[in-house]
Amino acid sequence: MSLKSQLNENNIPRHIAIIMDGNGRWAKKQGSERSFGHEQGVESVRATLEAGVELGLDFITLYAFSTENWNRPIEEVQALMQLLVQAIANETPTLMKQNIKLTTIGDVDSLPDETKEKLQECKDMTSNNTGMTLVLALSYSGRWEIVDATKRIASKIKEGTLALEDIDESLFASSLNTDGIPDPELLIRTSGEYRLSNFLLWQLAYSEFYFSEVLWPDFRKQDLVDAIKDYQSRERRFGKISEQINN
Ligand code: IPE
Ligand code: IPE
Ligand code: MG
Repeated sequence: MSLKSQLNENNIPRHIAIIMDGNGRWAKKQGSERSFGHEQGVESVRATLEAGVELGLDFITLYAFSTENWNRPIEEVQALMQLLVQAIANETPTLMKQNIKLTTIGDVDSLPDETKEKLQECKDMTSNNTGMTLVLALSYSGRWEIVDATKRIASKIKEGTLALEDIDESLFASSLNTDGIPDPELLIRTSGEYRLSNFLLWQLAYSEFYFSEVLWPDFRKQDLVDAIKDYQSRERRFGKISEQINN
């Protein structure tokens, strides 16, 4: 059965954001090093992107490394950065084949040089792709992004190129890293944790949340479909009442 045939095709989100969690626990459960869980997580990313393309999503945002993750043991941080370099190199041909464009949010400048270079190469290679966009959140945190946006706005005010009256939600949103990307309709977090961990604080204001017990390395296409099915069973009211939505 195709993925689409399990869903209402008229109500598929344009943008799904995912907190990929549980790699360490997955590895520990089988007596392996945490980094093995991260490696296996790449397979789940591949499956998720494939499903995203099949379903016709416009954007998938993956939380790959948070600002707070810099505080993990140095060996794990290094292993993650190394894995990123390797995964990008390995997956670029697949992104090309699937017409996926790569972009990033977060403080990418803070990443090691090799990681930055590989990311830039992949962004350049895929920049003319017109299918789905993969947004990788790297050295990302929602509070960092909001402060960063505030600084940009403040400096324009200081220069005299922006008036105080011009600051509104739309200007603020366009000062964020996610400028041009619609807010996610659906947020998924794996591994049975129920928190945001500083992810997309502004953008998730009206998103639907879906929490899965599955550990990220076990996440497959059907898990994404299940999340969307759940999403489709909800009524998004945006502050209104049910009767207003249905009329
Ligand atoms: C998510 O898995 C991946 C990253 C945060 C980079 P974790 O590494 O957080 O795995 P758990 O939560 O410890 O199981
Ligand atoms: C959130 O997961 C960050 C990523 C998935 C990249 P964490 O595992 O770091 O979150 P906390 O610290 O348990 O909240
Ligand atoms: Mg975790």
